[in-house]
Amino acid sequence: MIAEFQIPTKIISGSGSTAKLGGELRLLGATNVLLVADPAMETIGLQDKVVKLIEAENIKVTVFNEIEPDPTVQVVQRASEVQKTVKADVLVALGGGSAIDTAKAISVLATHPGKIQDYAAGVGSALVNPLLPLVAIPTTAGTGSEATSMMVVIDMETKTKFAVRGADVYPNVAILDPDPFFNLPPFVIAYTGLDALTHAIETYTSNKATEITDAFALRAISLIGQYLPALVADPGNLEAADKMLFAANLAGTAFDRGKLHLVHGMSHALGGYFRIAHGIANGTLLPFVMQYTLIGKLEKYRNVAIAMGKNVNGMDLYEAAQQAVVAVKELNANVRIPSGIGELGVADDEALLEALANKTVATGLVNNTPRKASIKDLVGIFRSAL
Ligand SMILES: [Fe+2]
Repeated sequence: MIAEFQIPTKIISGSGSTAKLGGELRLLGATNVLLVADPAMETIGLQDKVVKLIEAENIKVTVFNEIEPDPTVQVVQRASEVQKTVKADVLVALGGGSAIDTAKAISVLATHPGKIQDYAAGVGSALVNPLLPLVAIPTTAGTGSEATSMMVVIDMETKTKFAVRGADVYPNVAILDPDPFFNLPPFVIAYTGLDALTHAIETYTSNKATEITDAFALRAISLIGQYLPALVADPGNLEAADKMLFAANLAGTAFDRGKLHLVHGMSHALGGYFRIAHGIANGTLLPFVMQYTLIGKLEKYRNVAIAMGKNVNGMDLYEAAQQAVVAVKELNANVRIPSGIGELGVADDEALLEALANKTVATGLVNNTPRKASIKDLVGIFRSAL
């Protein structure tokens, strides 16, 4: 298998690192910035703080903060019109994956004609022009969008989530500052953290994994197993926030190259039908997909169990691998992730489950799974997860 790996994004980390933003914008030649911020950032005063950091460099700044969880094509269109009106030359994203993905979509439409859905991966046109520079400041430890060459947008008309990819989509700079985390509700920390864990476990067990993505993914699994419960228990735990930001970044770096498989395929299908937070859908589905795919990667699942703190001494390979499923179920219970998708409103309806299975196949992610899955198998996994 031919594989490529590079990290084009400069990473600045540590408590207080947001203060480096102005200098980085200068290095990027910014004169006119569009700050794409989650609306919660205004409430907690972080939006203002970042605006002041930008203005202190004598750089003009406009704020767009009509961000919704899971960016829709409509929000992307509105945001893009703002960028075109103010003629911003650099973008700063402040928030979770939705803010960062919206900023990425704005940067695509700044240099490409048409609508964002025209560039849907696999079916639309390729990105051929250089994009606007982007500085990403993630305020959740989940999507790892600051580390990836893709964005996910939802088209509510067709009930479809689609990705847009391109080599120039990687942010130029990612600032991993744990300071704002004390403001996050524990349940947001829980489900965004489960998104990162899903990235890491899926990539580690994917058919496209390499030695390099394995190293990043396994370290992310270990950090999440160790620090996610501590951060959920106390969002003000700076060490745990710092480690979780690294974990999400490592997992994002890994999955961008090593590829996701069934959990994201299934959760993207679910997300088209039900407005469920991405991380909740992933975290809920994760142990069921692990159970199904276990026999395809026994040794790797054993390593996942060990990375998550399970003692597998004296167990045979299958038993040890099974401990990975146990570890994820225990983590889910500890941080209050639902134990089944029935709790998310999914009914045991054959037509619905088949439609979800077909949507899962359409994501293309099933090709990366360590155990092949037919439509019937996928319906079975959805049903087992009810
Ligand atoms: Fe994800």
